[in-house]
Amino acid sequence: MTTPSLPAGAGSPILDLAGVTLEVNHLARGIRFYTQVIGLSLQHHDPDRHVATLRVNTEQTLTLWQPTTRQANDPALAPLRARGASHLHMAFQIQPDDMRRAQSLLDAHGLPWQEIDLGTPEVPDVTTYFFDPFGHGLELRGVNTTDPRQPAFPPPTQPLTPGPHSLPVLGLREVALIFGDYDDMKARLPRAYGFALAKEQGDRNFAQFTLGPHAQADGNGTPVRWLYAWDPQVGLADMLGGDHALVQFYAHVDDVERRVSAEGLSRVTAPGRLAVRDPDGHVFEFLTPPRSAVG
Ligand SMILES: [Fe+2]
Repeated sequence: MTTPSLPAGAGSPILDLAGVTLEVNHLARGIRFYTQVIGLSLQHHDPDRHVATLRVNTEQTLTLWQPTTRQANDPALAPLRARGASHLHMAFQIQPDDMRRAQSLLDAHGLPWQEIDLGTPEVPDVTTYFFDPFGHGLELRGVNTTDPRQPAFPPPTQPLTPGPHSLPVLGLREVALIFGDYDDMKARLPRAYGFALAKEQGDRNFAQFTLGPHAQADGNGTPVRWLYAWDPQVGLADMLGGDHALVQFYAHVDDVERRVSAEGLSRVTAPGRLAVRDPDGHVFEFLTPPRSAVG
């Protein structure tokens, strides 16, 4: 498998969603929840830094940060005052045929959930919402792994670490962030980073950015990944967007760096990675993909 190539100047330099970092007030409880209930595998646990990195699939991670006074969870990101996200909404991809079993597993774990059909009578798109122990709003969304609209790193057809009591998640699908200045965000995200604006909703401040070289239509099981950007509001199923989020994206890093340099944003760089503090308090990390981006 190769990553799609992207000629300089064509489309968005963003290739895919690489990971998200959540703030938790009890790291051990977070590790237990995200391994035993969500089914992620623990990749790295640093008790001194109060950090745990969990693997969603071979290319995507979920990281937990427990904040500690006078100590940075990641010293490299300390100049940007990076924090894990609070009350973030995010979705995991699962096989549609696994949705009923996933709901039964949530029942078995004693977790209340809510189902909403985001599709049409002809093409149902059932999704299940619930909360983690830290107020992050989670969602299970059916994904059609054979859909031709594939992201740079398609979800696997089976969970990385299948277990009888954990949810059969395949990948990260979306993250939703709050921006205090919606109009400014809508102009800045394409200009300063190159995110591809796909659409807005007519009834509320809600913008969707396609995490790939070109804006695409959402819905109907697409495996493509998404950044949702809202103003402060309660969305579907009582979900809130995340504040002071830390989100990782695969990208053509040099292209993004040219943009954020022109924008004059605070940033730190290392080989193959660029971290930027967004004016709304989020920190975005842009990573060179693990495989060659030259298709
Ligand atoms: Fe969602």
